[in-house]
Amino acid sequence: MKLFLTLILLPALVMAQAKPKKKFSPKLGAGVAADRLHPLVKLENVYPLDEVELKISAMAFQGDDLFVSVFTPDRQNKAPFKKGEIFKVTGLVGNSERAKIKAHRLMGDLYEPTAIAVFEGKIYVGEKDKISRLEDKNGDGVFTADEKVVLMDGTSQPNFHTYTVGFETIKREGETYLAGNFTTSIRLGGSRDLNVTVNPKTKRGSTFLLGPITGTERPSQVDISYYAGGYRTPNGFAVGDENEIVVVDNQGVFNPSNEFIRLTQGGFYGHYLLKKGDTNIAAFQPENVDSNTGGSRYQTPTTVHLPQGIVNRSPTQPIKLKGLRGALSVYNDQWLMGELTLGRLNRVFLEEVEGVWQGAVFLHSGGHDAEGKKGFTAGPNRIVKGPDEKYYLGHIGHGGLWQFLPKPNEEPKPHYGLQRLSFVSDVPADFNEMVAIRDMPGGLEIELFKAIDQSQLDGIQFATKQWTYVPTNGYGGRNFGEEGLEITKKELSKDGEKIRLTMPGIRDNSPPFVTHQKYSNENVGWVIEVKLKNLQLYKDTGWYTMIRHQGGGSTQFVAAGLDVKRDPMKYAQAQYKAICAACHTLDGNRLAGPSFKGLFGKKQTVIRDGKKVTATVDDDYLLRSIAAPLAETPEGYPPAMPALNLSVAEQRALVEWIKTLK
Ligand code: HEC
Repeated sequence: MKLFLTLILLPALVMAQAKPKKKFSPKLGAGVAADRLHPLVKLENVYPLDEVELKISAMAFQGDDLFVSVFTPDRQNKAPFKKGEIFKVTGLVGNSERAKIKAHRLMGDLYEPTAIAVFEGKIYVGEKDKISRLEDKNGDGVFTADEKVVLMDGTSQPNFHTYTVGFETIKREGETYLAGNFTTSIRLGGSRDLNVTVNPKTKRGSTFLLGPITGTERPSQVDISYYAGGYRTPNGFAVGDENEIVVVDNQGVFNPSNEFIRLTQGGFYGHYLLKKGDTNIAAFQPENVDSNTGGSRYQTPTTVHLPQGIVNRSPTQPIKLKGLRGALSVYNDQWLMGELTLGRLNRVFLEEVEGVWQGAVFLHSGGHDAEGKKGFTAGPNRIVKGPDEKYYLGHIGHGGLWQFLPKPNEEPKPHYGLQRLSFVSDVPADFNEMVAIRDMPGGLEIELFKAIDQSQLDGIQFATKQWTYVPTNGYGGRNFGEEGLEITKKELSKDGEKIRLTMPGIRDNSPPFVTHQKYSNENVGWVIEVKLKNLQLYKDTGWYTMIRHQGGGSTQFVAAGLDVKRDPMKYAQAQYKAICAACHTLDGNRLAGPSFKGLFGKKQTVIRDGKKVTATVDDDYLLRSIAAPLAETPEGYPPAMPALNLSVAEQRALVEWIKTLK
C-alpha cells in the first residue's frame, strides 16, 4: 500500500487523475530498471483463476489456509471508503494447479483493512479506524458487520494515508498481543497533516501492542501500549525468531531515505508529528522539541538506510530467512523485503557492532512477468511463510504509481497477485554475489557467495563512496557530505570468500558532521556504497549503513586529497558539494538558506542585533556569514546556518568561489 504514497507518488497520482491519458515515466536508479529474478529463487503464480482481484494488504496462514485482506484505497479522501474484503484462500499448499486454488469471500464492507492475524481460530483485522475480532455468531462461515467485536475504535480520523500495518502476534509474560504499526496522516501532496485525536490512546507513526488477546477477550479487557515511534509510513512490520521487531519506513518529511529499523524499545526514529492543541504526537516523540522543526539530535539511530530511488521507492514487509540448507545457508538470518513501486524484492543483512545494529542492503529480485516465471505480477506488499516452508508474496497495485511499474510503452499489468517463492537446490555454476558487508576495524569486509582467487581480486575495480543525510521537515533529502572513499589495502581471506578493504576515510555517528539544533546529521549514520566492477556478480553494488565503526570514524575533511592553498577553487567546490549543498543551491532556488546564485554584490536586508539593516554582499559580508553565521541573518531566513569550524584558508577559498557564481 504504497499509498503510502511517498510524496513522489502523490503528485503522480493527482496528475494521473487530472490527465488520465498521460503515461507516467518513472525515473529509476540505474540498474534497478533492467532487472530479473534472483538466480537462486523460483516463482509460481498461485492466485486463483476466479475473477477475484486479490489486491493484498495483509496475509496470515492458519494451517494450510491463507487469510488475506483485500484493499481498495480511497485516493480522494472520500471517507469512509468501505470497499475492503477478507478472503480465505484454500488449495495453496502442495499444489501448483491454479484451478484448485480458491478464494472464499468471508467479509466485505471493511474500511481499508491492512492488517490481519489469526489467533485461537479467530480472525483479527485492522481497518483504518478500528481493530476488531470477527465472531461468526450464526455459524454460516461468513461475517457481517454485526459480527465484528471492536477492540479499539477511533484509531484514525479519515485521512487517506492512515493505515494499521500488521499484525504479528507477540508473547509477553505468557500473554499474547497483536502488534503492528500506525501510519501517519499526510496531506494530499505529501506534507504532514495533524493527527487529530479521535481515540486519545492512539499514537500514530508508532508501533503498538494491543491485548492481551485470547480469542474471546472483551474490549474492556484489552489495552494498547507502544513499543517505539517516530515513523512516517511504516508499511513494513515483522517479528523475527529472537522476538526482535523490525519496521520498514518510507521516505518523506523528516525521512531523507527509506529505512529498515531493528527496533530498540522506547526508540524514537525521527519523524515528528505536528503538535497543535488537541493532537497526538508519536510514541516517544520528545515533548520539548518543536514539532515544526524537529531535529535529528533527539532521534534513535536507524539500522539500515534504503536510499530512495536507488534501492527502494516504497519498501514493504520484510521476512527473516530461516532453514535454508547447504550453500544457501549463508542467507539464514537475512531479511527479504518487498518493494511496491519498483516491483521488486531486496535483501538486508544485519550485524551487531559494539552493541549497535547496522548492516547492508542488496538488490535481490525484480522484473515483471504476468506468467510469474521471471518476475512479479505486481508490487510485492506482504510476505508470509507457509506451512510448506515456502514464501508467499501478496501483491497490490492501483492506478498511478502503485502498480508495479511497467516497462516503457508497456500497458499497466494486473494490480494484484499471489505468488509462491522457493529457493532452488542447484546453484547455477556461474552464480556469485555479495552475501554480506561487515564492519571491521579500519574498513569493511565483503563476503562473497563463491570464493575468488588473488588474480580475480586484482582485477576488481572498486568504486566506493559515502554520504549522510540531514533530515528536515521538507520532503525527502539529498545525499549530504558525499565523498569518494579511498581503499588503501585489499586482502583476500584464506578461503577466498572474504575481501577485506582498508578505508581510513569511513565516517560514523561520532563526531557528527554538522551539528545544529535543527539541521544536523547527528544520529543519522552514513551510507557506504560499495561497487565491485569487473567481477561477475548477480548485482555489483551493496549499501552498508555505518552507525558505529570499530576503531572510530574519520574526522578528516571531506575534500581530503585536495590542497586548499594549491587549488582553492577546486577545494571550495568540493567543500560546497559536501557541506553547503544541503542548504544552498546554485540555481536560484531556496533551500534552508539562500541560493548562492548571483549572491555577490547583492543588496540585502539583514537582521543584525535584532535590527533590520541593509548590507551589500561583499568579501567581508561573505566571510562573516561563514565564520560567524548567526551574527547577522538575511531577512526571511531562520538563523539556521551552522558554525562549521573551517580554517581561514577554507573560508577564503569559499568566498572567492562564491564570487564566481553568477
Ligand atoms: C544546515 C544548513 C546550512 C548549511 C550546511 C550551510 N548553510 Fe549557509 N546558511 C544557512 C542558512 C539557513 C542561512 C541564512 C540564515 C543565516 O545566516 O543563519 C545561511 C546563510 C549563508 C550565507 C549568507 C547568505 C546571505 O544571503 O546573506 C552564506 C554566505 C553562507 N550561508 C555560506 C555557506 C557556506 C559556504 C556553507 C558550506 C561551507 C554553508 N553556508 C552551509 C544554512 C546552511
